[in-house]
Amino acid sequence: MPKRYTITAALPYTNGPIHIGHLAGVYVPADIYTRYLRLTGNDVAFICGSDEHGVPITIKAKKEGVSPQDIVDKYHSIIKTSFEDFGISFDNYSRTSAKIHHDTASEFFKTLYDNNEFVEEISEQLYDAEANQFLADRFVVGTCPKCGNEESYGDQCENCGTSHNATDLINPKSAITGNVPTLKETKHWFLPLNKHEQFLKDWILKGHKKDWKPNVYGQVKSWIDDGLRPRAVTRDLDWGIPVPVEGGEGKVLYVWFDAPIGYISATKEWAAREGKNWEDYWKNDDTKLVHFIGKDNIVFHCIIFPAMLKAEGSYILPENVPANEFLNLEGNKLSTSKNWAVWLPDYLVDFPNQQDVLRYALTANAPETKDNDFTWKDFQARNNNELVAIFGNFINRVVVLTNKYYDGEVPTPSDYNAIDDDTIAALKAYPAVISSSIERYRFREASQELMNLARLGNKYLADEEPWKTIKTDEERTKTVMFTALQIASSLAVLSEPFLPFTSAKLKNILGHAQLESEPNWKMASEQLLLPAHHKIGKGELLFSKIEDTQIQEQLDKLEASKKANALAHKAVEPQKEEITFDDFSKLDIRVGTILEAEKMPKTKKLLVLKVDTGIDTRTIVSGIAESFKPEAIIGKRVTVLVNLAPRALRGVESQGMILMTEDSNGNLVFVNPDNKEVADGLKIS
Ligand code: MF3
Ligand code: ZN
Repeated sequence: MPKRYTITAALPYTNGPIHIGHLAGVYVPADIYTRYLRLTGNDVAFICGSDEHGVPITIKAKKEGVSPQDIVDKYHSIIKTSFEDFGISFDNYSRTSAKIHHDTASEFFKTLYDNNEFVEEISEQLYDAEANQFLADRFVVGTCPKCGNEESYGDQCENCGTSHNATDLINPKSAITGNVPTLKETKHWFLPLNKHEQFLKDWILKGHKKDWKPNVYGQVKSWIDDGLRPRAVTRDLDWGIPVPVEGGEGKVLYVWFDAPIGYISATKEWAAREGKNWEDYWKNDDTKLVHFIGKDNIVFHCIIFPAMLKAEGSYILPENVPANEFLNLEGNKLSTSKNWAVWLPDYLVDFPNQQDVLRYALTANAPETKDNDFTWKDFQARNNNELVAIFGNFINRVVVLTNKYYDGEVPTPSDYNAIDDDTIAALKAYPAVISSSIERYRFREASQELMNLARLGNKYLADEEPWKTIKTDEERTKTVMFTALQIASSLAVLSEPFLPFTSAKLKNILGHAQLESEPNWKMASEQLLLPAHHKIGKGELLFSKIEDTQIQEQLDKLEASKKANALAHKAVEPQKEEITFDDFSKLDIRVGTILEAEKMPKTKKLLVLKVDTGIDTRTIVSGIAESFKPEAIIGKRVTVLVNLAPRALRGVESQGMILMTEDSNGNLVFVNPDNKEVADGLKIS
């Protein structure tokens, strides 16, 4: 029986492009699930959009000296393009700055207000007098009351995932000025979560515990067990959706109040465009609502948003919230600020048209039950050893041999032997096997079953050796090739959720569109898909080997980020003891020119320089050989400390010192403050 589904994927913040962590955690699994539902004949609305409010966006705008609208416009378009590029098949990708969203969120707020679902309260909130700004959410950092993380934000701790009120933070500090905040009175509207505690307990703890993922269920249970408190759903900010009730002037809705309503507004926008009724997707008990999110979003989707929907009264509640854990990269946490990430636009420059490879590598290694590590070596191995050597190799053999032996026409089989029967039986079982994994949100397992089907094909060909029997037994060869073509055809259908680009190419090669009825998931479990005499096309390369040099380039990029970071975060050395002007006057520093330079024999670091100091030409031994080739610095103008007591280095007397500092890669450079690679605070020595 076809069913109706509303599938949502977390709305990404538009304060930067998206990276592999987002793709692995949310968008690829959501897309696999949705494509599968569509292929099996269900009615699906797959909904997402940009989350364009919230403090991080205003902080980014301030930093770049542009307006928040400029920031969201820029990243909305970058993110939207990335999703299209990677085949994430949203029915609608909207944005929370859209009018339809402002209207929908305002109306939602007003309904709760009219129904007395809010508590209106004047309370003391953190305030930064210098910045003239209340400090909520990411404007304030402090110690998490639950886990002790010293860098928790006002609304959520990224370490333990707890969501709290800004006033709960221990030792709060303004993220704008670094000041210790004061308290100032202000009015806000609170959603009394405590009032919904019983409902949440009944709904989640009693209702769903069996089929929700253990990580999700466990987190939710622990929050409910800790006791729920009222949460402010408005903020004193000027970027967001204005509070639409009396007394709300100058205030906006909390970003986590408006963003999930974005799922609803995006559905409305889509329904209007497609001539559908949006309420079927949000207000009909027969519809299944599923939220795909990362684990940092659990509390908002399993407690706060359901409480809002319940309080409003006319909406359905999520059927499941299959949140993933986090993906790490080469052993370290993904981080935007540290540039420790693989950005999707960059990936496509380095691996053009290889979207399916990344989709596959991320799925095969998805952080479904625990945090997982993405490594470039694993990525290469998934491509070379699985996609190329198994899947691609099988398809290539089938297509090439069919063209060679039968001019591309599917041959007529004769009698099946036991191996053929077993192979066909196994083939027909695959749709159910893969379905069962997908329906339980086990996408890693599902992707491995798909690869097992390609393995089945490879093994069948390797055992039956049509390239040998073609010389001895034409009838047997026809049967084997016919069977192998059926496996290839099922692969074309069953790979679609995982490898949509490859599946499309393969269907095209096999001529699926020319068949009387186009093969689908259900047919793959019931019948053979390609009839004899059907004509297939020529081969096309589905996957190609990824070389070690390509992997090394990626590792080098990460290494460069690491270095730049280490330098940027290098603790600036504290100032030395104060000196008098007389102390300073003792130093005799002059401008000079390097006349000659030679490596000091048997050393790695030392160069012997002849320097014209204006007073004389003297020898200076300098430890810069690892950063400069001798011939490259002849003629270079330098600053020289000329009255440093001479000292002998490896038997050569050094009569002074050239002043040096470091660039962001840790290389020594001659002192020149205009060099942008040299950070403030680096010492001259
Ligand atoms: N922007 C949030 C994040 O990236 C997710 C918002 S999901 C929604 O963490 F439900 F609010 F839309
Ligand atoms: Zn914490």
